[in-house]
Amino acid sequence: MNKVVLVYSGGLDTTVCIPMMKEEYGYDEIITVTVDVGQDPKDIQQAEEKAKHLNTKHFTIDAKEEFAKDFCFTSLKANGTYEGYPISTSIARPLISKKAVEIAMQEGATSFAHGCTGKGNDQFRIEYVIQALMPNAKIHAPIREKNMTRVWEIDYAKKKNLPIQQSLEKIWSIDENLWGRSIEGGKLEDPNFAPPEEIFQWTKGPLNSLNEICEVAIQFENGTPISINGKTLTPAQLVLLVNKIAGDNGIGRIDIMEDRMLGLKVRENYECPGSALLLTAHKALEALVLTRDEIRFKAIVDQEWSKLAYEGLWYDPFKDALESFINKTQVRVCGEVVLRLYKGSAQVIKRSSPWALYSEALASFDNAEAYDQRESTGTVKNFGLQSRMFYQLKNAR
Ligand code: ARG
Repeated sequence: MNKVVLVYSGGLDTTVCIPMMKEEYGYDEIITVTVDVGQDPKDIQQAEEKAKHLNTKHFTIDAKEEFAKDFCFTSLKANGTYEGYPISTSIARPLISKKAVEIAMQEGATSFAHGCTGKGNDQFRIEYVIQALMPNAKIHAPIREKNMTRVWEIDYAKKKNLPIQQSLEKIWSIDENLWGRSIEGGKLEDPNFAPPEEIFQWTKGPLNSLNEICEVAIQFENGTPISINGKTLTPAQLVLLVNKIAGDNGIGRIDIMEDRMLGLKVRENYECPGSALLLTAHKALEALVLTRDEIRFKAIVDQEWSKLAYEGLWYDPFKDALESFINKTQVRVCGEVVLRLYKGSAQVIKRSSPWALYSEALASFDNAEAYDQRESTGTVKNFGLQSRMFYQLKNAR
C-alpha cells in the first residue's frame, strides 16, 4: 500500500493537500496527523471531522504537556524571542514533525506531505526535522511545488467540495499554540492597515480589559514556572492560566514587520499574553540571581539559541551546547516574582530568591558598617587609567 503521512491542521492549505495526494501524487492511503499543541479545541475537532469526511486514516495526538514542558519552558529559560516577540510557531514545528515521524514509523510509511508555502519558514523547520529523524523520508510540499495562491486554493476547494471556512474576504492565516497566536494574511498584508479588533481572541483591547489593577505572583524553580498565586499546576495548565490572566489585562499584543528566513519582510500580528508575562518575570528573576558577567554573556547565548529555534534547528548540536550553559545558569533561577497588570502593562513590583546576589546591608544608603565607603577611594582613583592617559596626551598636542 502506497501511504503518505500528511501533517494536518485542518486549515485550507492542508485540506487542499488531501485530494491532491490521491489524484496528483498517486497515493492510495492518506494518513492525517493533527498534533494538539494548544490550538483552539474547535480546530482539532474540525480537523477530525474533515479527515473523516475525506476518508483519511486520522490521528490526533495530545502533546500539550510535552510541548509546554520541553518546548515552551526550554524557550523561556533561553528568553526565546525573535525581532521582539516570543517565538511560538517555530518551537511547535519540531514537535509536530516528530509526532508525524512516530506515526509514520508505526504505520510503515516513509512519505510525508505538508501544507507549507514556499515563502515561509515552516517548510524549513518541518522538512529539517523529518529528515533528521528519518533520513530516507520522501517529503512533498504541494502548495510550494504547484506554486498555489490562496485564491486558487479556495477555488479548488470549492470545485472539489472540500470543507473549508475561508472565504475571499476572511482570509486570515492563523497559527496557534500554547505559547502564542500569530495572525497574518488578508488585509493585514498592507503594513499600513491597522489590525481590526476581530483578529484578536486571547487578549482584550484597552477598552475591554479589566478596570482594576491585578497582581500575579509567579514561583520559579530551575528557571521554570511552577505555581501561580500559590497554586501549583502542570506546565500546560500553568501556561493556559497565565494566558487567561494576562490576556484579560490586555498584555501581549504585538504588531511588527518580521524578517523571514528567505529574507522576505512580512507584517505579523501576535497575541502572546502568557509567554510575554512569563518572559518578563523570568528576566526579572535572572537579574536578581545571576552575576553581571553571566547576564551579559547569557544575552548572547540566548540570541544564538533563539536564532536556531526560529529556524527550527531543534536537534542541532550547537543548540544542545548552548543549552548546557543555559541550564547551568537556571539552577539558581528559583524564587518568586510579583507583577502588577493593568491595561496592557505588566510591571514587576517584587522579586525574591534564596539565590539573590543582593544584600540590603551592602547596598543601603543607611548602613555604614557592612560596606565602608572609604575603601572605594583607591579603586575610583585608578578607574579609567588608560582613558585618562589618552586624554592627557591628546590635550598636550
Ligand atoms: N512568522 C511566524 C513564524 O515564522 C508565524 C508563521 C505562521 N503563521 C501563520 N499565521 N500562518 O514563526
